[in-house]
Formats: sequence, C-alpha cells, structure tokens
Amino acid sequence: MYLGLDLGTSGLKGVLIDDAQRIVAEATTPLSVSRPHSGWSEQVPADWLSAAGNVIDAIAAECDMASVRAIGLSGHMHGATLLDASGNVLRPCILWNDTRAYAQAAQMDADPKWREITGNIVFPGFTAPKIAWVRAQEPDIYAQIDKVLLPKDYLRLWLTGEAVSEMSDAAGTSWLDTGARDWSDTLLAETGLSRSAMPRLVEGSAPSGTLRAELQSRWGFGSNVIVAGGGGDNAASAVGVGVVRPGEAFVSLGTSGVLFAACEAYRPDAASAVHTFCHALPDTWHQMGVILSATDSLNWYAGLTGTDAATLSGELGDLTGPGSALFLPYLGGERTPHNDARIRGALTGIEHATDRPAGTRAVMEGVAYAVRDSFDALRATGTEIDTLIAVGGGSRSNYWLRLIATVLDLPIQVPAEGDFGAAFGAARLAMMAAGDGGPDIATRPDIARVVAPQPELHDDFMAAHARYRDTYQALKDLT
Ligand code: XUL
Repeated sequence: MYLGLDLGTSGLKGVLIDDAQRIVAEATTPLSVSRPHSGWSEQVPADWLSAAGNVIDAIAAECDMASVRAIGLSGHMHGATLLDASGNVLRPCILWNDTRAYAQAAQMDADPKWREITGNIVFPGFTAPKIAWVRAQEPDIYAQIDKVLLPKDYLRLWLTGEAVSEMSDAAGTSWLDTGARDWSDTLLAETGLSRSAMPRLVEGSAPSGTLRAELQSRWGFGSNVIVAGGGGDNAASAVGVGVVRPGEAFVSLGTSGVLFAACEAYRPDAASAVHTFCHALPDTWHQMGVILSATDSLNWYAGLTGTDAATLSGELGDLTGPGSALFLPYLGGERTPHNDARIRGALTGIEHATDRPAGTRAVMEGVAYAVRDSFDALRATGTEIDTLIAVGGGSRSNYWLRLIATVLDLPIQVPAEGDFGAAFGAARLAMMAAGDGGPDIATRPDIARVVAPQPELHDDFMAAHARYRDTYQALKDLT
C-alpha cells in the first residue's frame, strides 16, 4: 500500500491506496489561514504536523500500516518556511497567496536574468521575493535563516529528518533553473543565500528518504518506508488525474483556481504570466494559469450571507446566461494574467433585483472568467488543450462546472473519485518511488460524468467576459 498526504491550504488530506491503486482509506483535518494585514496570508508550520499526525492516526485506526511501502507528499506551493540552524521555525510560513512582497518581486522581475533562468515572472507569491521582504523588514529573522523549505518539504523534514525538495515545487521558488532542473547559484546569491540554505533536489517520483524510526513505531509501519519526492499540489493533482501528456489539462477549483496543461518540452513564456514549471515526473514540464481566490471567493460570499458554499450552489437552477452583477474575484490580488498584487475584488452592476443567488452566480461567473483568462493566456503560448478534467472541492458544484464548460466551450470530465487529485497523485508518486511502477501508472481516472457546454449561451458569456476585462482595466488604478 501507498500513502499520499496533501497539505492543502484549507486542510490536510491523506489517502491510502492498495497495489491496484484503489483507495482503501482517507482522512482530512482542516487548517486555517491567518490574515493579519491586507495581502498577508500565513500558517503556523506546527499546525501542519499536528494535522498530518491526526490524518495518519485516523487512517492507522482503520488499516494495518505494516504493508505501506512508501509515502508521497504534496502541498500548497511557494510558501517560505524559515528554519534556524537548530531546525526551529523562525516565523509563520508566508503562503502562496500572500502578496506583501510585491515591491521586492517587481524589483527582481525588472532584472531580466530572473525570467531568463526561471522561465517565469517573479510573482510576489513566489518564495524568493518573500525572503527579500524578510531581509528588508525582519532583519533579525533573516540573519538566523539556515534553511528555506517549501511547506510539504517541512512535513518531509519531520517524517524523514532530511531537507529535500523536488522539481515541481522548487520551480515555484524563483531560484530554480527550470530548464536545467537545478538551483541557480546566481539567483540564490541575489537574495543573499546559497545552495546550503536550500534542500537537496530529487525528482517527484524518486525516493527522498525513509520514515524516521520513532514515527514508524508510532503508527505500526514496517521498516524502510520510502518517502517519495512528491510534488507541488498542482503537479501532484496532475499525476492523480493522469494529466502528464501534451494536450491533457485540468481545471482545479480549490482555494486557488488553476488551469494546468502538460507540455511536451520546456517552453517558457514568462511575459504571458503563465507559469512554466517542472512536472513531478522526470524530463517533463507543465504550464498553468493561477487565480488566487477560487473557492475562497465563494467561501467569502458564503460567510457574508451567513451560509456555506454547498447551500449557495444548491440554490441555483439551470444555467441561463450572465447576470447583471459582475464580480472580480481579486480578493487578495491576482496572478494570471494581470500579475497585480494590489488589485482587490469588485462587485458591480448590482440592482434592486440582485438577491443571494444572483450574487452567487456573479461570484461563480467571475471565477469562470478568470479561468477563461488563463485559458487564453495558455493558448497564446501555443499550448493546446484537447481534454479538460475537473479537480478540487469546487468541482462538486455542477452549476459551476457547466458555467466554466460554457465559457471555455469545452466539455469537462468529472472523475469518479471526487476531489482526491493531489493526495492520490502523491500516493502514485510513492508507488513509483518504491519501484512498483513507472510514469505509465499515472492513468486517467474513471469518469463519473461529462459536463457539456451550453453553446447557445457561449456568446453571451463571452460578451460578459469582455465587460469583466474592461472592468479590471477601469478599476485597476483606483484600488
Ligand atoms: C500555484 C499556486 C497555488 C497553490 C495552492 O502556483 O500558487 O495553486 O499551490 O494550491
């Protein structure tokens, strides 16, 4: 058996799969985000360890862990987890959707070598500009930095005692030479760091270490349990739903929204604001467009209206066409295509008739238009998308999927196994690291249903998408 652990922004999920890749157990523990200032987003790394402990406790209560051969890790990307020389965490982790480092990011991005080496814009949410922010704003903490770890790699340190990362997550730091799949000494030096502050790199499907004896006996694992490199949550999700070949893509509706496409080669196009990262499998790369608030937008609206996202979605009938209310889902800034850390959300076109469901539709439409923006950005780089599969908690809303299918004019497949993408992908990477399968085990899942676009509504939604884009242009200098 193989255990996959996915450290998500809103919860840590574990799945245990058997040798035939069937899910035999799963557990989730919620996590929360602290937002002490506008644009900030932090988590306390100790909470990840307790969440992982709870999840493994729950799985071990149901299953005999003695036959687990390997563990795979996945997690939210880009976070800066800062450790001192004794391995103590120096401050809360600055997360992927934290945009406080926008000035540092802009300054770095103005120097062409960052884009040349990494293949990407230096976005404020990436790791390197956060270190530049800490250097400027918290010099005492900066002076104590011995290691910078990505969130799931901090989990790995606890599990194995080793500081290791893998290519897909490392590509989101702004310190990786993405084509060469190695740290860039030049870029590390720009932030006053060197390789010694970085974890060792492995491929996602390769072993990174073995489970520490203390944890092995705590849950009754056998000896020599391998911990695989794993992947950033998007690359791991792609492995989970078999998006590993050119033309294959997924749309993820999680805290973030992601349109992810596998590529035949390393083909960066930084100016498009598309992310070009290593995939979690050797010699493969991928592209993605990223929206900072997808289900986060719906959860925000649910909080405001005193209910939950499932109830809001359940109040919607059939898809009829765009409403008069228009929502810009930029609650904490935006990445693709605008790279605008300072923009904030907007709700325009509200009228007397705008009730709660009309607001829900506007929020879902705003996220659908943002997905369309990423779709256009990906296609402009030459990336073809032939099939699209849905992952993430938001894909439980049939209305939202039909809306996105209609806005993209593409059918969307929904996997039978619900939202296990990243944890399941991590378990698959564990299976590969144990030597029990190659990249070919990353097959497509059984499809529960295909959500077809409604072509008669496409033009109306595209007209609304044009209004959405104009609204951003009109508002961007006002916020
Ligand atoms: C990707 C990104 C998010 C996080 C959280 O670049 O920032 O998708 O990985 O899921």
